[in-house]
Amino acid sequence: MREQPLLQVENLTIDYILADSIIKAVRNASFAIGKGEILCLVGESGSGKTTIGLAIAGALPENAVIREGRIIFKEKRILGRGSKISTGKEDKIMMIFQDPASALNPLFKVGEVISDIIKNHLGIDNSVKIKEKALELFRMVELPDPERVFDSYPHELSGGMLQRVVIAIALSANPALLIADEPTTMLDVTLQAQILNLLLNLRRRLGLSMLFITHNLGVAAEVSDRIIVMYAGEIVEEAKTRELLNNPLHPYTRGLIECIPRTHIRYSKLKSIPGTIPDLRNPPKWCIFADRCTEAVDLCYKIKPDLIEFSKDHRVSCHLYRADKK
Ligand SMILES: Nc1ncnc2c1ncn2[C@@H]1O[C@H](COP(=O)(O)OP(=O)(O)OP(=O)(O)O)[C@@H](O)[C@H]1O
Ligand SMILES: [Mg+2]
Repeated sequence: MREQPLLQVENLTIDYILADSIIKAVRNASFAIGKGEILCLVGESGSGKTTIGLAIAGALPENAVIREGRIIFKEKRILGRGSKISTGKEDKIMMIFQDPASALNPLFKVGEVISDIIKNHLGIDNSVKIKEKALELFRMVELPDPERVFDSYPHELSGGMLQRVVIAIALSANPALLIADEPTTMLDVTLQAQILNLLLNLRRRLGLSMLFITHNLGVAAEVSDRIIVMYAGEIVEEAKTRELLNNPLHPYTRGLIECIPRTHIRYSKLKSIPGTIPDLRNPPKWCIFADRCTEAVDLCYKIKPDLIEFSKDHRVSCHLYRADKK
């Protein structure tokens, strides 16, 4: 029997309600994450990546409505709402964000914050043991001088250290799934590489599964086992990382690959895909990418392509690959 994935998302459809309009942020997204797997969600700003992460973490804002869909975690259905940092003792899904400083209350020492979470999630209430556990977590995320970090306020730590603190806090609940939403975007390139390495190490050591969110396909290529490409709220392609990079099918994915900066051509102009994302208040009923696609034909402006399995483990939503053309 095939092992059940750790997480299954089925037909997830999410709107945001505004005073005078409805934003159709995510439409019909289905995917799974296996145990110990790192799955990346990649796409431009506004493609719905964070919305999916928040839905899985049970932390969508008040004005979000899940119109349709199921999320199954450890074979249990979850679609609840919870606090921003976690969904509670049983769920063990933790989410970290781009800006570590905003995740930490500036008025509390980081030691106090992590102690609280250790107490609540692991049920330890002896303060010496709590501190031991906190220091162990700080060492696990390779923070130098864990004792000093424990006694520091957030503003006394650098951005890279803060992101490590936030990762340690996320790990303190012993999660089975870590959702990392652009965790390195605000860091410089060296720190970015260090944090990515740390996450890869943690996966190896703890068997942690991860949903890694980034707009940067280059970063996704470095960390992920599998990549899902999103465009304007829809999944347009999904494949194992190497397959996606070597054999991109969707014109949007091919465009993204051309936009990956290549360091050896230092002064070449960074490419970007011309055009903008469609209006999510009224997204087209036909192919979502047609307006920006250089290969669009009449059909693309009439019918939305299904997400089909083009080859084993490689799904794409594009009329170029429809069954009768294969
Ligand atoms: N609370 C909200 N209320 C209304 N609209 C929202 C809200 N949060 C997000 N949106 C809209 O939903 C769409 C998807 O947003 P989301 O943040 O999921 O995209 P993203 O792919 O994470 O983008 P980015 O790369 O900029 O983080 C966007 O059009 C965004 O403006
Ligand atoms: Mg986002």
